Amino acid sequence: MDSKRTLSRVMEAPMAMEGEGVPIRRAFPSHEFSQLDPFLLFDHFGGVVLKPGEAKGFPDHPHRGFETVTYMLSGEFEHRDSFGHHGVLTGGDVQWMTAGSGLVHSETPARSMVENGGRLEGFQIWVNLPARDKMKAPRYQELSGAHIPTARSADGLVEVKVIAGSALGVKGGVETHIPIEYLHIRLQAGATFTQALPATLNAMAYVFEGAVSVEARKVPQFHVGEIATNGDSVTFTASEPAELLLLAAQPIKEPVARYGPFVMNTAAELQQAFDDYRQGKMGTISFAH
Ligand code: FE2
Repeated sequence: MDSKRTLSRVMEAPMAMEGEGVPIRRAFPSHEFSQLDPFLLFDHFGGVVLKPGEAKGFPDHPHRGFETVTYMLSGEFEHRDSFGHHGVLTGGDVQWMTAGSGLVHSETPARSMVENGGRLEGFQIWVNLPARDKMKAPRYQELSGAHIPTARSADGLVEVKVIAGSALGVKGGVETHIPIEYLHIRLQAGATFTQALPATLNAMAYVFEGAVSVEARKVPQFHVGEIATNGDSVTFTASEPAELLLLAAQPIKEPVARYGPFVMNTAAELQQAFDDYRQGKMGTISFAH
């Protein structure tokens, strides 16, 4: 079989403020688009040049039961957690954090960004974990931008950073709990890019520069296109320079009980997560140096 997947719907990612006042575009969850199993949330943050003192972040908060994946395009974000983990993400870097059984972390602009301002832009997605993996110990996979494999098409018009999965014969380095493709695709004017994508994978594309077309339907800038499960590959074409993220994964197909920073299978597990957090079982962040 060789058939092309089409778009089932195209939606603009509405603007909002999150955390202490970080401008974001949230493709989902929204009223019309609650999730795309196993993807629970898709945020495009920043995309703005901040003045000194303007950079804001996400102070201490817990997570349990899923993964947060942060991909920085520009700027510097510092993170700390209740297990003593500490690091800085800069442009091009990826942090794939498996919250698993739970932790408390903070995600804030690095001090130099707060003091000097600068361009801040990136993505955070939440990926659900199957029930069997929800209570695994927390784990980080950190990839510096320089070490993210990049694939190029023979005609030179397509460049793909392979964060997870594979494209044009190049494999990404992240270990995932279920099959996941996370690709950052850059298309020059006149480019065509085809990715094998079995119908068993749920998939979406988010366009953040220019516009792309999938089987004659357009996905404009700041729009998310949900890709129908009606074929085994998807083809993107661009008549102008464009950049998009392509996310695809095998759906988990389990009940989802989510509230705020916790994503479990049942209401009782959700309650347990709140109790464990309140009792300090996910720890607290120490800022002692
Ligand atoms: Fe977080």
